[in-house]
Amino acid sequence: MSFSDFDPTIKGTLPADFQWGYATAAPQIEGAWNKDGKGLSIWDTFGHTPGKVKDSSTADDTTRSYDFYKRDVARMKAYGVTGYRFSLSWSRIIPLGSKDDPVNEQGLKFYSDLVDELLANGITPFVTLFHWDTPQELENRYGGMLNKEKYIPDFNRYARVCFERLGDRVKNWITYNEPGVYTLAGYAAGVHAPGRSSFRDRNEEGDSSTEPFIVAHTELLSHAHVARIYKEEFKPSQKGTIMITLHGNWNEPWDADDPKHVEAAQRAQEFEIAWFADPLYKTGDYPPSMRAQLGDRLPRFTSEESKLVLGSSEAYGMNSYTTFFVKNRDAEPDINDHKGNVEVFDTNKQGVERGIESDTPWLRTSPHGWGKLLRWIWDRYQTPIFITENGTTAKGEHDFKPSGPDDILEDPHRVDFFKSYLTEVAKASQEGVVIKSYFGWTFTDNWEWAAGFTDRFGVTWVDFNDPEKPRYAKRSAYFLKEFFGHLIAESKK
Ligand code: BGC
Repeated sequence: MSFSDFDPTIKGTLPADFQWGYATAAPQIEGAWNKDGKGLSIWDTFGHTPGKVKDSSTADDTTRSYDFYKRDVARMKAYGVTGYRFSLSWSRIIPLGSKDDPVNEQGLKFYSDLVDELLANGITPFVTLFHWDTPQELENRYGGMLNKEKYIPDFNRYARVCFERLGDRVKNWITYNEPGVYTLAGYAAGVHAPGRSSFRDRNEEGDSSTEPFIVAHTELLSHAHVARIYKEEFKPSQKGTIMITLHGNWNEPWDADDPKHVEAAQRAQEFEIAWFADPLYKTGDYPPSMRAQLGDRLPRFTSEESKLVLGSSEAYGMNSYTTFFVKNRDAEPDINDHKGNVEVFDTNKQGVERGIESDTPWLRTSPHGWGKLLRWIWDRYQTPIFITENGTTAKGEHDFKPSGPDDILEDPHRVDFFKSYLTEVAKASQEGVVIKSYFGWTFTDNWEWAAGFTDRFGVTWVDFNDPEKPRYAKRSAYFLKEFFGHLIAESKK
């Protein structure tokens, strides 16, 4: 199959130095959960707690990328990528996590070898320090991020070790992946590790009305401390860049003609994105809409903290997947609300659907909202955007029965998703929105957190029943290679 019908009006719209490839996260792909000295993370504990993961699977093996990283890099090269975004497992590098605990040389060697392998294959590494896997020991000792005084020095030291040992070769650093999802899923809904919430049928401990905001505050401050360490101690010689990656979908008013719903959609956008992005890129403080609803449950920045946070991230790391319709709620906000007192819908007042269904209930293909979101972020923050995650599942992929090692899974749903979203990226770029990268989520099917192996997000199909975890390309991997060939301008040299 060839993809020759590309829109000529968007040819060469992305700059020649645009980075594209795939993103992954350590707990979702590495396996080797207790190998070569790795300590436990909260996701190891969570996966081993009965009833927490949909298919009762664990992160013990996943795709075994720890063992097979060389062949994965070779595959990425065949897919034509220019960059690869992956995360480091803190408890692989410092098994017990704290500033006084020993470094695990074998763990560091794995990442150092991976970086070398990527560079030898002409692939630029983008490295995330934290993709949700807090060392379990820090959770046990002092409650992890609920205790910012104890947590910040530990995260600082972990980051320093990474900069010292990998920063000669890694030039693109991301402190946190989606601090908002970590805190909302882990401390508000309680459906992700560490599994805390106000809902006692689900979690033994926690307070959804306060803890998510405390944890978010710790994430912002610890990100800012680490960014300062990087800029002061490492950047002058290593010359890299440091940023944070935020999640955020687009919220479209359920009734665009009713100012009440228009305002509600904007408020939802602020609760989801500006919660982190305003302190980082705009004001050094939380948005007024959040303060108005949450009062003192939202922590306050001292003026020193505010200065530290504002401007700390050198670019805007953007993860986004879909769009929702939102309606204003006429009642007083629920004490556990974190969405801005709105109701969320799949269709708008006219009955228009938010997008075509994937294999994941919350995720529908909605490129229109994604295009609006790119412009909203650019208009509000005026900061270059690195798209660090975007992708989809597709129905029916669990039934694939490869007929041989070179069999390819046809995934037209994912091809259409990428095509429509990237067309929006190209159009926004033409309008002047500065976009520097696109990392598809994700390279291979993986362990999708509490959904276990039931959500297949990869451009590569993995046979999880086989201990060797064989990989098979999906068509979308080749589509992206060709489409980026069309979109990225040829280098002038
Ligand atoms: C996360 C990924 C996750 C993906 C799909 C993002 O929120 O960063 O780890 O697998 O969404 O749910």
